[in-house]
Amino acid sequence: MINHFKLVCSPDANELTLKNTQLLAHQLGCEVVDSLALLKAEEAYFQYLDNDLSLSLLLDDKLSDLKFDLVDGEIGFRACRVSKSNEVVAKAIGCKPHYRPKVLDATAGMGRDALVMAMLGCQVLMHERNRAVYLLLNNALQRLAQNTNFNSIAERLKLANNNSLTTISHITNQAENIDVIYLDPMFPERKKSALVKKEMRIFKLLVGEDPDANELLEEALQANVKRVVVKRPKGAPVLAEKNPSHEITAKKFRYDVYLK
Ligand SMILES: C[S@@+](CC[C@H](N)C(=O)[O-])C[C@H]1O[C@@H](n2cnc3c(N)ncnc32)[C@H](O)[C@@H]1O
Repeated sequence: MINHFKLVCSPDANELTLKNTQLLAHQLGCEVVDSLALLKAEEAYFQYLDNDLSLSLLLDDKLSDLKFDLVDGEIGFRACRVSKSNEVVAKAIGCKPHYRPKVLDATAGMGRDALVMAMLGCQVLMHERNRAVYLLLNNALQRLAQNTNFNSIAERLKLANNNSLTTISHITNQAENIDVIYLDPMFPERKKSALVKKEMRIFKLLVGEDPDANELLEEALQANVKRVVVKRPKGAPVLAEKNPSHEITAKKFRYDVYLK
């Protein structure tokens, strides 16, 4: 697992990159270096290039980068084409023709599921506890908000660097009026590592596994909301040995839906 972070900034960086780097260095209190030389296995380096924040680390002894993108690439492409009727997530969270639930995505990760829910018209409050993942996602959300095609979607997404285990009951008792808690904890990968996408392998190096996923479901089930939805890989056991009210299956995963 990665446990040490630094910031890298070229001495020739432009004004915007320097400004963003200094701000982040101040927030993180971490060292700024001018090159990626001597990167060790347990280290990762944040790097700004203008507005884009990425993380560099060693994967199989090779330098690899991770950047979240909600506009371009595979997920941007998919999200653009969200069909209100056929997205299984719409069914799982209980969207109706004139009703869009307000969702707490308690395991925000790369923000992909939250983006789809926002594109369906839901307000989504996202909680992410891993600091590095939070920073990358926050940067992706800022770029989403700057894109004129997506800024109205970005307005529906709010992100906080919180551990949902300790904040769910507080948030759902506030005037936030959360209808649905959405959970998608990490699941141990069963495929051979070479087959898993590089992006997901880097993500796992950062986050590890979520050994407290059972407790998270138990906490969510006690919260003041209408339903709790858990995304699970196909064939995975239910969380906390709690059988859902019903299941909705997709090609590679399923949703366990707990109606309250
Ligand atoms: C599988 S990823 C979620 C992927 C996400 N659904 C997406 O579409 O990109 C799980 C994420 O949940 C976060 N997480 C797990 N337990 C959490 C908790 N108790 N509070 C906040 N974040 C949590 C992990 O740090 C990780 O980033």
